[in-house]
Amino acid sequence: MCGIFGYVGSQSNAANLVLEGLKLLEYRGYDSWGIAVKKGKTIAVDKHVGKIGDASVSLAQSTIGIGHTRWATHGGVTVANAHPHLDCKKTIAVIHNGIIENFSEIKKELIKKGHTFISETDTEVVSHLIEENLKKVGFASAVRDAFNRLHGLNAIVVMYAPSKEIVAAKTGSPLVIGVGENELFVASDAVGIVKHTRNVIFLEDNQMAVLGYKLKLIRLPHGKEIPPKIHRINWEFEQVSKGKYKHFLLKEINEQPVVLKNIALHHNEQARILAKVIGDAFGTFMLGCGTASYAALAGTYIFSHIAKKHVNFSIGSEFNYLEDYLTNRSLVIPISQSGETIDVVEPVERAKEKGATIAAIVNVLGSTLYRQAKYKILLGAGPEKAVVGTKSFTAMVAELLLCAYTFISKQRDGRQLLLETAKDVASILGDISISKIKKVAQTLKNREHIYIIGRGLSYATALEAALKIKETSYIHAEGFAGGELKHGVIALIEKGTPCIVIAPNDETYEDIVSNAQEIKARGGYIIGIGPKNNDVFAEWLPTADTKEATMLSQIVISQLLAYYLALARGIKDPDKPRNLAKSVTVK
Ligand code: G6P
Repeated sequence: MCGIFGYVGSQSNAANLVLEGLKLLEYRGYDSWGIAVKKGKTIAVDKHVGKIGDASVSLAQSTIGIGHTRWATHGGVTVANAHPHLDCKKTIAVIHNGIIENFSEIKKELIKKGHTFISETDTEVVSHLIEENLKKVGFASAVRDAFNRLHGLNAIVVMYAPSKEIVAAKTGSPLVIGVGENELFVASDAVGIVKHTRNVIFLEDNQMAVLGYKLKLIRLPHGKEIPPKIHRINWEFEQVSKGKYKHFLLKEINEQPVVLKNIALHHNEQARILAKVIGDAFGTFMLGCGTASYAALAGTYIFSHIAKKHVNFSIGSEFNYLEDYLTNRSLVIPISQSGETIDVVEPVERAKEKGATIAAIVNVLGSTLYRQAKYKILLGAGPEKAVVGTKSFTAMVAELLLCAYTFISKQRDGRQLLLETAKDVASILGDISISKIKKVAQTLKNREHIYIIGRGLSYATALEAALKIKETSYIHAEGFAGGELKHGVIALIEKGTPCIVIAPNDETYEDIVSNAQEIKARGGYIIGIGPKNNDVFAEWLPTADTKEATMLSQIVISQLLAYYLALARGIKDPDKPRNLAKSVTVK
């Protein structure tokens, strides 16, 4: 969840390079940050609470530096708890992502040996452990031995004042190494590195890297050297900057027509592969968390409706309690933007142990799920930096839709629908539609609750639309299956309660409009989203009718509504909602 960046090379402004890297990675954690550089035989550190924003650093010139943006787990949000963490002699600096499950046992042992701790974090044990190990062995071995003692899924990057190297090791959280000319980078996401080099190595679990004059990769726990495998990133640095947009969120919402076109035109082979493995499997489970879980839920309806095929769905963290069903003929499809979400990664690992086949749908090349999977489906949505997922969601649903049409040998129809939807989304992003959405946002901005209803595929749309509104505007929004209203939810409707109705032109239309009538009869204020207007709607936000793909247009409208609600409520940085992180690598 935290952002990690490290530099070693020929440039002497390491602190600034690290700061710039951290700014690009801030979406991973943004409650505090810190940087350490080597200054002669000592280490200079600068740590702060709050977002990195436009901060600058005034640390000494150095050719080696590491830095971190934090999403707090152990210990509150304070300067003392911000990383990097030093040892007693202040010559070792450690940054860390993950949770050290046995930290309290190690801490007690180190306190007995005379070490003094100044933070409440689990991370600080690592610096003191390395300090202890350095009494016996050299720097890299001291890091290796310390890391081998840690339980849990962790990634660390360490600097030692007398050394010209930094050492990185991981068992869980992601680390990417950038290989430049006379310089090496390490970061928790290639997004931080691509400005400097597009040649990267994805560090695998149980590997350690020593970055210095040369790069050395070592397999843990023992230290056998392994040859590095260099990948080339195929996107440009421009894709990780805001360009003309005020926020990444708006930029990424606007990128969706291109993302949809790309899937329609270039993902035919991927869709064929996925359709084939689904066809061959004896039981398929799609897994995801947050936004991706709603894409997976949409997938069950899409496969049932188009392919007449039952595909199960589970929230990643709940799959632990369902996986007794799995056999070596099962197929598990993890769906994830980052490819790192621990609540998906862990059940997938266990499914693999049971012999299940894994076909991952991810946006990040080289990510953990990408590496875990036998079949690798890349979304190609480009880097997504706003914490709130937008283009990754539409890409996930589009991919599943194309696959379902491919399953029944009608891939051309699926492609056509996506192309028509890309056009519709482009028109939704135009002035007329935006001004209507802004007007609705003004009407809703002071409401405490917003309800969203849909049936069938639109139930998944309702859940995702509600999540967008919650995360972005902090208004309580709740998605419901239209049929469930009368079983309880209707008790919440009073005069003026806003209710958004997801109304595509499909078999759910009549029934969802009836549900809207029931809400209106109790004073509810109805906003319809879909291709057909209706008397029951007080406001109508129109889309084209592109069959199942209509949901993509409806979601884009919901994303825009969430964004303009946030602005209307004075939320300054909708890219980084409070308490959230983009990539959740701890349980
Ligand atoms: C976090 C993010 C959500 C995201 C979820 C799953 O909770 O805040 O926006 O939907 O993780 O992320 P993934 O990378 O697996 O799609």
